[in-house]
Amino acid sequence: MKLKGFTIVVGVTGGIAAFRAVDLVSALKKQGVEVYVVMSNSAQQFVGPLTFEAISGNTVHLDILESPPGWKFPHLELAEKADAVVIAPATANFLSKAALGMADDLLSALLLGCESTVLICPAMNSKMYRHPAVQENIKKLNDLGYSVLTPGEGHLACGDTGPGRLPDIPEIISELEKDLTVNQDFNGFTVLVTAGATREPIDPVRFISNKSSGKMGFALARAACERGARTILVSGLLHPATPPGVQLVETATAREMYNEVLKHYSTVDVVIKAAAVGDYKPKEVSGQKIKKESGQLVLELEKNTDILMELGQKKNKQLLIGFAAETENLEKNAVKKIQKKNLDMVVANNVHIKGSGFNSDNNMAKLLFPGGEIKELPLISKSELAHIILDNIKKLK
Ligand code: CTP
Repeated sequence: MKLKGFTIVVGVTGGIAAFRAVDLVSALKKQGVEVYVVMSNSAQQFVGPLTFEAISGNTVHLDILESPPGWKFPHLELAEKADAVVIAPATANFLSKAALGMADDLLSALLLGCESTVLICPAMNSKMYRHPAVQENIKKLNDLGYSVLTPGEGHLACGDTGPGRLPDIPEIISELEKDLTVNQDFNGFTVLVTAGATREPIDPVRFISNKSSGKMGFALARAACERGARTILVSGLLHPATPPGVQLVETATAREMYNEVLKHYSTVDVVIKAAAVGDYKPKEVSGQKIKKESGQLVLELEKNTDILMELGQKKNKQLLIGFAAETENLEKNAVKKIQKKNLDMVVANNVHIKGSGFNSDNNMAKLLFPGGEIKELPLISKSELAHIILDNIKKLK
C-alpha cells in the first residue's frame, strides 16, 4: 500500500492492450490511490470510458476543450493534481507525439504542463517497437526525463512473438512506487553538480571541446533533487533536458564554469564535478574567422585553472567528489587525483569500455576513497550509478 494517498493520472492510448489499463486502474484504486483517467480518441474504440469511470470513481477526461464544472483548463488542472502520470499502453503514435512535444489532444498537452513523475509503458507489435524511429523516440523521451518501461516479450495479439507486450501490472505499480517514494535523505543539503563539456573559443566560429554529453552530471542532479537536495547544476552548453526542480546555470568556457562554481561554493555541502573541463585554451582568440592559408596552422595553448584542485585547496566543510575519465592505469590515476585535489571520493571510469562512458546511457565505474577503499560497480544505467554515488556520499556525511 505504498501508493496510498497519491493522485495518479492514467493516460490510455489506442492499442489492443488498452483493456489491461482497466486492471491497472483497479489495482491503483485498491491501494488507495486517487485515479483520473484520460483517454485518447482511438483508445475509446477499444474500451468504453464508462468502464474507467466506474472503476476510478472519477469522470473520465476525453477532450482538451471539455472542462468539468469548476475546471478552467483540464490539461493543466490534471497536470497540477498528479503526483505521477502513467501512460499505459503508450502506442508508437503517442511516443512520437510526446517526443516532439506536440499538444494536439488532452493527454499530450497534459504531459507538457506536468512537472511530476511520468512513466510511459509502450505496447505495440514487435517490428514496430524495434523500428529505429520508435527507438529514437524512446531515447528522446528518456532524455526529456520521462521513465520509459521496456515492454514484455512473448506472444502478441497480432500473432507475432517478441517485445511489445504491456508490462505486467505489478511491474508498472512497483516502478511507480520506486518513483514516488524516493528516500528524502538529502533534505536540507545543497548539492552542486557540474556536467558536460566546456568550450574554448579559437575564433568566432570554432572552439575546442570534448565528447562529454552531460548525461552523467544530469542524472546526478536529477537524483540529488529527487532525494530532497537543493540542487545547482553548472553545465556546458550542450546538455540533456533540465530535470524538474534543478537550478541550471549554463556556462561555455572553463573560466565561466570556474566563476559560477566559486560563486556558490561557500553555500554548498557537496560538490560533484562530473564536467569534462578543458585543460587547455588557445592563448589568443582571433576576433575574425581564421582563413585557410597554405602550410600549417599552429595554435598555442595555455592551461586552464583546475577548478576542482582549487576547490580542494579552499575546502571547508564541503564534500568534494571528482570524476576521472581514463584510457589506461585507471586506479593509479584516480588515486593520484584524490591526493592532488584533496577529494573525498573519485568516480573513475575507463572510457575505452564499450557501452560505457561518453554519450552512453550506461557507465561502468569504480568508486575510490582516500583511505584506499575501492568499490567496483558493474555496467549500470547512469541513473542507477547516480543513486549509488549519492548513497556513498551520504555515508561520508
Ligand atoms: N577538473 C576541473 N578543472 C579542470 C580539469 C578537471 O575541475 N581544469 C575536474 C573534472 O571535473 C574531474 C576531475 O577534475 O572531476 C578530473 O578531471 P580529468 O579530466 O579526469 O583529469 P585532469 O585532472 O584534467 O588530469 P588529466 O587530464 O591529466 O587526466
